[in-house]
Amino acid sequence: MVDLTLHDPCQILLSRILRWLWFMVILSRDHKDHFMRRILLAGNWKMHGSPEMVASLLNGLLVASQQECAVDMVVFPPFPYLAQVQALLKDSDISWGAQNLNPAAQGAFTGEVSAAMLLDFACRYVLVGHSERRALFGESDQDVALRFEAAHQAGLIPVLCVGETLAERENGATETVVERQLDAVLQGSGIGAFGRAVIAYEPVWAIGTGKTATPEQAQEVHAFIRNKISSQDGTIGDHIHILYGGSVNGSNAADLFAREDIDGGLVGGASLKAEDFLAIRDAAA
Ligand code: PGA
Repeated sequence: MVDLTLHDPCQILLSRILRWLWFMVILSRDHKDHFMRRILLAGNWKMHGSPEMVASLLNGLLVASQQECAVDMVVFPPFPYLAQVQALLKDSDISWGAQNLNPAAQGAFTGEVSAAMLLDFACRYVLVGHSERRALFGESDQDVALRFEAAHQAGLIPVLCVGETLAERENGATETVVERQLDAVLQGSGIGAFGRAVIAYEPVWAIGTGKTATPEQAQEVHAFIRNKISSQDGTIGDHIHILYGGSVNGSNAADLFAREDIDGGLVGGASLKAEDFLAIRDAAA
């Protein structure tokens, strides 16, 4: 009979180390599975659309959404098409939201729309602080914080957009700018509000320019954002979706979304045709 009992202290030590390593592998696998974030693909239509365009785009997405896919989709049409979008998407897995909201409940704010009005059209999400709102319509960090808080209070999921300009990047100020934009909202709403929010990192120099951030550049800022959130609440940091935006298309999406802290995309130009948007979804799946 062969004696299989380990007597040699070295062998005993080695077997203990192997067991411990195996245990750590199992633990880290469970940890990763637990925090696995599904890819979220968001289409920001900006000021584009017509009833015909909405119908053809959404019908294309609806056909594709019937196939099982590990990517969640949400569209952000201009306000006038929300009723049409709601009617077309209400029985589907595709969500919708608005491109902005005013923090006030109602009142003399010509041209603005409240959170309650968005809920009347069953919006689930709302963009807050898109760089075009900041740059072209003068929304300050404080305005953005108020809009985020109004969305949060109403039960909408705010998609907070942050990002630096080219000059800011070239001056090495990317993290300072992104941190300032995040801090305004963290101070206004508190870390808890990020438990039901999405962050979109959109370098301004990459929006609509065809110039995408490299996956390394994007990952670096995404990790910075996640660390900042995690430093205040580890669970929220693990779960929050951080999307990349700026010239995402079917050719660059897979590389971007493969990065550890990039959980999907906020897509402008390539979200206006079903085939382009679905090419991104297929690349991400
Ligand atoms: P883009 O826009 O994909 O056309 O660059 C992105 C955005 O502004 O959200």
